[in-house]
Parts: sequence; structure tokens; C-alpha cells
Amino acid sequence: MIGVGLLGLGTVGTGIVEILEDRKKELEELLGEPVVIRKILVLNKKKPRKLNTDRYVITTDFKDLINDKDIQIILEATGDQDRAYGYLKEALIGGKHVVSANKALVSKHLEELSLLAEEKGLAFLYEASVAGGIPVLKALKDQLRLNRINKIGGIVNGTCNFILTRMGDEGLDYSQALKEAQEIGYAELDPRDDVEGLDSLRKLRILASLALQTRVGEEDILLEGIEGISKLDLELANKLGRRFKLIATARRVGVGFEAQVMPSLLKKESQLSGVCGAYNMVELTGDKIGSLSFYGLGAGGLPTANAALSDLLDIAVGSYSSKSPLGQEALTNLGGKLEASFYLRINKYNCELEQAFKPIIEELLFSGTQLVVLTKKLPLKEIYYQLESQSISKNDYFLARLEA
Ligand SMILES: NC(=O)c1ccc[n+]([C@@H]2O[C@H](COP(=O)([O-])OP(=O)(O)OC[C@H]3O[C@@H](n4cnc5c(N)ncnc54)[C@H](OP(=O)(O)O)[C@@H]3O)[C@@H](O)[C@H]2O)c1
Repeated sequence: MIGVGLLGLGTVGTGIVEILEDRKKELEELLGEPVVIRKILVLNKKKPRKLNTDRYVITTDFKDLINDKDIQIILEATGDQDRAYGYLKEALIGGKHVVSANKALVSKHLEELSLLAEEKGLAFLYEASVAGGIPVLKALKDQLRLNRINKIGGIVNGTCNFILTRMGDEGLDYSQALKEAQEIGYAELDPRDDVEGLDSLRKLRILASLALQTRVGEEDILLEGIEGISKLDLELANKLGRRFKLIATARRVGVGFEAQVMPSLLKKESQLSGVCGAYNMVELTGDKIGSLSFYGLGAGGLPTANAALSDLLDIAVGSYSSKSPLGQEALTNLGGKLEASFYLRINKYNCELEQAFKPIIEELLFSGTQLVVLTKKLPLKEIYYQLESQSISKNDYFLARLEA
């Protein structure tokens, strides 16, 4: 028997139980023994569940799982950052393999948990934490054996992509598109992690640390979200033959790297521009393989559960490495030197403001109640400097990178 302890029985946890029930016979044939969920940890035992849980042992005490000698693998799908971190650490120390879908936790404790797993000769796998159902981490580790990865990233947040698609295609304003995303279940009631770019940033931190074989911390990533975008931005993008996408990207630059999560104004014919709705796409560029793209559903109970269970199967058949996949390269963070052309909208307008920004303007797109420009190619920090010197706060501008 392959004994599993499941942490969380929400969207992803339920998907895990459903797939294991649905594929029970096939998995037993494949592995020569059954996969058995020995215990499920939740917060509230009395909560009504979508599933019939009669045949499962549900508990609110992690000790029940850690003390169960027949649990070899902990599958974590809680979304909790602090207590769940303690559980995963305890599990590894206690000799249990760990699989997590929790990007916030994995991003925060990536190095520590990777090293602990290595020290203990155990698996610490987290395919489901980045781009949900898309098997990008496994492919990335595979390509790293022969390639130096020079660039990685793409669209990794389905909620933002859904909002931007609805605004662009249907002319909805931001609040209507967000409301729709919440009604369908793509966006949380508190959508800040998604729309402010934090969710993308955590995924990029994981992708970039693996791909570039250096530590890319959350604090190393430049961050702009989509929360300030307006209908006017979408109308102007349309006129330019472009689309806005929230792009998370990291690349090697000489002996350094730069990483950013930022709305980008892409040409309509570009590959990423065609990624619509809640879909994700991750692209990686290796020195031998060239460019590879991974496209699919970046979230959802079943796709995400499928990714977590794919990790579980790797553990069950011994197809995993306990060696930490993180590299030892000491690349310098060159994010502060990022140079590009930008799309900038400022929520206010007067002639003095336009004069102040004149030296950096390449093309004036709109002026009147607001000022909208495309800038010359320049360091991003110069834009921040200008905004600060004109006392323009974060709520008063929207900034995007203009992709060549
Ligand atoms: N949903 C997706 O499409 C998706 C995609 C990719 C990654 N993820 C990640 O997967 C994880 C789970 O997401 P979800 O959407 O399934 O969340 P969810 O629907 O909110 O479910 C969370 C589950 O975890 C339980 N839980 C929360 N804190 C706990 C704690 N401290 N101890 C024990 N149980 C706890 C909850 O218990 P109760 O039921 O008793 O409240 C609930 O069953 C998150 O890290 C999320 O970022 C989700």
C-alpha cells in the first residue's frame, strides 16, 4: 500500500480524492499496490463537503498523520502559509515525502525545504504550485540536464488573463471583468494576490530559481500589477494593434539576471498574446533546445490535482531525485538596470505635467483628463524617479512594458 496523508479538502484536495477514486483500479495495476488516503487534515470537520467522506478518516490534528507509520507521502493543498510550513517540515524530518500545491509556501521556503529533503533523502515536489495543470517543472528539470536556460516565463495567472481577455474582447471595464471572474470562481473575494501580481511573482520566483540555477528571491522581482488598468488602456492598445497581458519573466543577462512581473503590451500576432481566458503559457529558452512553450489550464481543481498526483506517482515508482534542484550560480540581480520602452498612463493632466514628462515621451497617445504616452527606451528607474518627483502615487498611474 502507498499510504497518503492529505492536507486540505478544498478545491484541489477534493480533486485529488476524486482522481484517486476514479483511477483506483488503473493505479493499482500500474503500481502493483493500491494508493490509499489514510487520513485527511482539515480546519473544520463539520463543514459540509462536496464529496461523500464516510470512508475517509478526517482529522484536525496533524499528529494523527505524522504518527501514522503507514503514511509515506504527505500531499499538501491547504493554502495556509505558516502552519502548513510547520507540517511539511515535520513531515520531512519524520521521514515522509512531501508534495505541495501551495505556491506561497513553496516560494517562501524553497531553499530550506529543498535542502531538508536532500538531507533526508526524500522527495519535495511541487509541480502543482506553478501553472496548475501544466507539467512545466518536470520538463524544466529535464531540459536543465543538457541546457543552460537563458529565459523563462510567460502568463502564469489565469485570473488576470481572464480579466484582461474580457476587457479586451468585450469592452468590459475592470470592475465588471473582476466581478465576472469572482462569480465563475477564478478570482478570490479578496483578489489582491492575483491582480497586484503577487501570485505571478511567487510562481516566477520558483521557476526562475530552478531555471537560472541561482537564488531569485521574491524581493529580486520587479512588480507591477493590473489593478490600475482601465477601459481607455484597452482601447488604446487596440488602436496600436496590441494586447495587454500580465507577463512574468526572468532572464540571464551576462553574469546577472533580471526578473519582473509586469503588464506588457504585446503585438497581437505574438504567441503569448493569443493566450486567452484562464489559460496559462510558460516559455523557456535553452542554449541547445531553443524555445519551448507549455500551454494549458493554470488552475482548477482537477488539473491542479492531476499535477500533484503526477508528483505522487513519481515518488511511488521511485522516479524522483532527492537532490535539491536548486543551483549554485551566483548571478547578480540586474533588475534595477532594466531598460525598455513603456506604456504609461497618469490619472491626471495639466500642461506642466506633460512638460515634465516631455524628455521621456516617444509618442503622445492621449491627453486631456489623463496623460497617456509611449516612452523612449529608458531605464525603468527613470520612470519611477519622474513619477516620484511629480508626486504621482501608485494609485495614480498604470505602467506596462512595450514589447518589441
Ligand atoms: N484552486 C486552484 O485552482 C489552485 C491551483 C493551483 C494551486 N492551488 C493551490 O492549492 C492550495 C489549495 O487551494 P484550494 O483552492 O484547494 O484551497 P481551498 O479550496 O480554500 O481549500 C483549502 C483546504 O485546506 C484546509 N485548510 C486550510 N488551512 C488549513 C490548516 N491550517 N490546517 C488544515 N487544513 C487547512 C481547508 O479546510 P476546511 O475545508 O475545513 O476549511 C480546506 O479544506 C493553495 O495553496 C492554492 O494556492 C490552487
